[in-house]
Amino acid sequence: MIDNSRATPIIKWAGGKTKVLKQLITKFPFELHYGKIRNYYEPFFGGGAVFFNIIQNYNIQNCVLSDVNEELMLFYNVVKKDPNKLLSFVEKYQSNYDRLTDSDKEKFYYEIRNTYNIERFNIDFNDYSYLFVPRAAQMLFLNKTCYNGLFRQNLRGEFNVPFGKNYKTNIVDKNNLYKVSKTLENVSLLCTDFQEICEKIEDRDSFVYLDPPYRPINKSARFTNYHMSNFIDNDQFRLAEIFKKLNEKNVKLMLNNSCSNTYDDSGVIENFYKDFQISYINTSSTMSSISSKRKKINELIITNY
Ligand SMILES: C[S@@+](CC[C@H](N)C(=O)[O-])C[C@H]1O[C@@H](n2cnc3c(N)ncnc32)[C@H](O)[C@@H]1O
Repeated sequence: MIDNSRATPIIKWAGGKTKVLKQLITKFPFELHYGKIRNYYEPFFGGGAVFFNIIQNYNIQNCVLSDVNEELMLFYNVVKKDPNKLLSFVEKYQSNYDRLTDSDKEKFYYEIRNTYNIERFNIDFNDYSYLFVPRAAQMLFLNKTCYNGLFRQNLRGEFNVPFGKNYKTNIVDKNNLYKVSKTLENVSLLCTDFQEICEKIEDRDSFVYLDPPYRPINKSARFTNYHMSNFIDNDQFRLAEIFKKLNEKNVKLMLNNSCSNTYDDSGVIENFYKDFQISYINTSSTMSSISSKRKKINELIITNY
């Protein structure tokens, strides 16, 4: 069930699952519906569309969310611990932005982007400090005003997405921010490679949702750089091996990836998971901002149940 009065994703994230959530819900393990799943893990957290549905509808006692992107996890830590302070920074950005002319809005965007990039050298991502709150506010501002809500860093770790010409924007929905903060209250937030958290999962009453960067289906679809390090075929293989190990521990697993069979015969992902249940979801590519260029595509849902 999707209930709009509940907490919903607070940032836009490439590969976000909001649009296909209804289709994913139909593939959740029945043990989740019957209250038999106690532990929930999401090692490729991103915008968290699936988490928000699960945590508010099912009987989860222990939840671990993780992503390798340290800026993203810094942001969620601030939402969890300091929603009021975050809001006061965001409200300042909002009122400054609203007062500016369109061309000054663009300048303001690049000023914030510049500050955000320079300040990264002062941040110890492992040590929560007063510097985290303004940084989280800057990230939220950039997310809502950059081109297409992308988060992209170059190899030096600089956020390099251009201005999105989004002249009228609501940086944050205050009520949703508080609801999101509340849902994160008893949740563990980690910033690590997926393998590290997956190797610690032992409990059979667990459900793990895996939504990695998709294997590119053609050369023009190479969007795997959510982070300075790319997600390459070796990582897809590592993930498939982890999936098999977790399956042996009777953990319930659901994974999404691209469907290569539609485009060529390689079927790399389908081959990795050939011993599991593979079904399909219909979606449209969000990688183009031009709606006529967004193609209908199939994606894979792989489950071990
Ligand atoms: C497809 S997105 C997840 C989208 C998310 N399910 C949502 O609804 O917004 C993939 C995520 O994997 C993260 N990621 C990339 N490489 C990773 C790694 N080695 N370990 C953990 N997370 C990784 C990226 O930072 C990105 O947030």
